Amino acid sequence: MTPIHIPSLQELRERSSEKWRRFPADVLPLPVAEMDYEIAPEIQQRLIDLVTRSDTGYLGPIPELGEALAHFSARRFDFPFEPERVRVAVDVGAAIVEVSRLFIHHGEKIMVNSPVYQNFYNWIKELHAECVDVPLIECEIEVGAARERSYLLDFDAIERGYASGVKVHFLCHPHNPLGIIFTADQLSRIAELAKRYGVIVISDEIHSPLVYHREGYLPFLSVSDAAREVGIAVISASKAWNLAGLKCAQFVALDDRLNERLKSLPEAVHFRASLFGAIAAVAAFKESNAWLDEIRSDLERKRDLLNDLIKEQLPKAFLFRTHFGYLGWVDLRAYGLGDEPARELLTRGKVALNPGHTYGPGGRGFVRFNFGTSDEIIEEAVLRMRQVLVESTH
Ligand SMILES: Cc1ncc(COP(=O)(O)O)c(C=O)c1O
Repeated sequence: MTPIHIPSLQELRERSSEKWRRFPADVLPLPVAEMDYEIAPEIQQRLIDLVTRSDTGYLGPIPELGEALAHFSARRFDFPFEPERVRVAVDVGAAIVEVSRLFIHHGEKIMVNSPVYQNFYNWIKELHAECVDVPLIECEIEVGAARERSYLLDFDAIERGYASGVKVHFLCHPHNPLGIIFTADQLSRIAELAKRYGVIVISDEIHSPLVYHREGYLPFLSVSDAAREVGIAVISASKAWNLAGLKCAQFVALDDRLNERLKSLPEAVHFRASLFGAIAAVAAFKESNAWLDEIRSDLERKRDLLNDLIKEQLPKAFLFRTHFGYLGWVDLRAYGLGDEPARELLTRGKVALNPGHTYGPGGRGFVRFNFGTSDEIIEEAVLRMRQVLVESTH
């Protein structure tokens, strides 16, 4: 197997994706949830095969994708399901918007738990729905004998929101940007409440293949009968295998009545997805698991590296402990740069991070740091942060 590899900064700057085009060349770009690893060799090969055969048409029936995803779920999460349940959309955003349209009329309510992936708000606007935000509560939790800063769901407020007429709940599990994973107990409580109040839970599980330790994560649909009755899971290979530009996501309902509702979606929801994305997703879920194992352990190491660097270089900052992927949630409030520290970091430090306030009011004074890159770039980014936060204020 080819070892995982990250190109040099100079080579990365040749890429044409958003991450590398959005900012001028003197800026180190760390927003946009793309990783800098070279993609898995099995996926490269499938894509080359398609191009070599000029097999570049529309996406038609693709039963092998359902099989690959169901098999991946059984192996990785101990959660098998029938492959025929798997449906396809062009991306996770489109899947969530199209599915929501079946359950929401203009002006009706969708719940989110902020700080949360900023496009949830855009999708709610696209649906002409009302956003009911039940923020996660920043707190300390017990982890073994120690205590750790984290976030918890506010179940009383969730119940009040459901009782006020919420129709759909957008759940981010695992949670971007906070790095948390909801427990079986928390997911079951959501499912029970949703069942009681007739709420559909759309569980965005796009980051789930990147959970560092398999025992740490349960798909929403796996936790209870109630979860299967109210839940629709949305997943994609696009984050874990870095295939966002190839455009293909999958969604699954295991309840027969929900599945019937999904059958009424326009056929175009399927064929607007890309053949490249679908074939790449099959290769990802079926053939690129050893590659993914390496990426996961490299990312966990990088999380620890970032944590050490922050403790050393930015002693007043705090990195929340993420349990998956490459997104670090960093509290910079103690540096007194106001609600949007990302702005100063960009203009004075030439380092681009996601501004925390875009994830919701609780994100003011925070940034999201994408550490899915080389150690050198992580080190350089922290150095640039230090120049703005520490050196110029003291
Ligand atoms: C939680 C979450 N959902 C969805 C997306 C976007 O997925 P897609 O490009 O498939 O719409 C992202 C991208 O970062 C994400 O973090």
